[in-house]
Amino acid sequence: MHGYGNVLMVGSGGREHALGWKISQNEHVNKIIFANGNGGTYENIPIPPTDIQRLAEYAKNNNCFTVVGPELPLSMGIVDVFESFELPIFGPTRSAARLESSKEYSKNFMTKYSIPTSEFKVFTDFSKAVEYLERIDYQVVVKADGLAAGKGVFVSNSKTEAIDSIDLLLNKKIFGDSCNKIIIEKKIVGEELSMMAICDGNTFVMLDSCRDYKRAFDNDRGPNTGGMGSYSPVSEISGNEIEYISEKIFQPVIEGMKMEGTPFSGFLYAGLMIEKHTGKPFVLEFNTRMGDPECQPLMMRMQSDLYQYILAAEQQALDSVKPIEWKDKFSVCVIMASKGYPDKFETGYAIRGISKNYDPDLMVFHSGTKLNKVNDLVTAGGRVLGVTSMGNTMDEAIEKAYQQVYKISWGEDQQQFRKDIGKKAIGT
Ligand code: GLY
Repeated sequence: MHGYGNVLMVGSGGREHALGWKISQNEHVNKIIFANGNGGTYENIPIPPTDIQRLAEYAKNNNCFTVVGPELPLSMGIVDVFESFELPIFGPTRSAARLESSKEYSKNFMTKYSIPTSEFKVFTDFSKAVEYLERIDYQVVVKADGLAAGKGVFVSNSKTEAIDSIDLLLNKKIFGDSCNKIIIEKKIVGEELSMMAICDGNTFVMLDSCRDYKRAFDNDRGPNTGGMGSYSPVSEISGNEIEYISEKIFQPVIEGMKMEGTPFSGFLYAGLMIEKHTGKPFVLEFNTRMGDPECQPLMMRMQSDLYQYILAAEQQALDSVKPIEWKDKFSVCVIMASKGYPDKFETGYAIRGISKNYDPDLMVFHSGTKLNKVNDLVTAGGRVLGVTSMGNTMDEAIEKAYQQVYKISWGEDQQQFRKDIGKKAIGT
């Protein structure tokens, strides 16, 4: 049967480390190979996630089932290439991945299939965008059309701030071709929520609720990042609300993508805003992969065997599986990052203090780490570690995570982390 044996995990972040950790709990999995992994993943091969031809050769020669973590290889068509060689792989095709790789495509798709999202306009020209801003009387969010590693969204509090963001994107091209076009959309006020599902092109199974902390600093201040922490579940979201999100958002995506001739298979992530005065969910964006760091607490709380769902999805058999079971516990992930992230930062600092005792309720998932020539663990990226804990209460989970965070160091002046992860969940 396809899928049992070796798993090739494409990617090198905390999401891939957590997915690999969870998949490895399936008794039929022989080994997991990460391409190209990090200092915390066990078996790595030096093939970057974007070198699709070499990945396909590796998967073929080593009889691997492939799971793709990040968006870039998906947007480049890794799934299409693997499928052309009849190699088993889990993820959306290039066309389906446009739900994330083009915000314009995604917003038009949402409009066409009546998926709740805020009103928007697309611009390529600076002066036309500014002219539009002069005409409207509400606050906006400015977004790069293409991929920008989670950093292409600018929430503005004034017209001047919005114009500065438009300038950075359309004139200064800070994300290159990804900002040839921009989206200006009406800002919705509320609380964010990340909901994800495993999809097989025809149907889907929902994952539990999760919340991400996007801003760099405490109390949601500072620039947007890929995510500085997360927690699950989001207790104020009831089972009925998840059902509503499933029916009004995920179901129309799956049906719509089928109607477009680009069925969606893979992890689908809806970044939602629960509007403050109506309590209604609006889609801020779709991602065609698991969230990072949302993946880490979700993997920790998942009772069911993830790999079985992935295999069922690849074989378009999700309609025959049961809903995923979750541990009745709380999980928190605190991201430890290099000082200066998401802007300039230095790497190469030796990391000390990671607990060597295996505790399934306290995992330190690695992102930007590597082993140097003398096998020392050193920093190698912006987001470095995701300290992920589980407890019977959210307080317990928070305490457990921070106890470990405060023991880890690569130099006081070289690291940063938020001190308020999970606090929204306990109302402080
Ligand atoms: N944490 C946000 C994302 O994965 O896009």
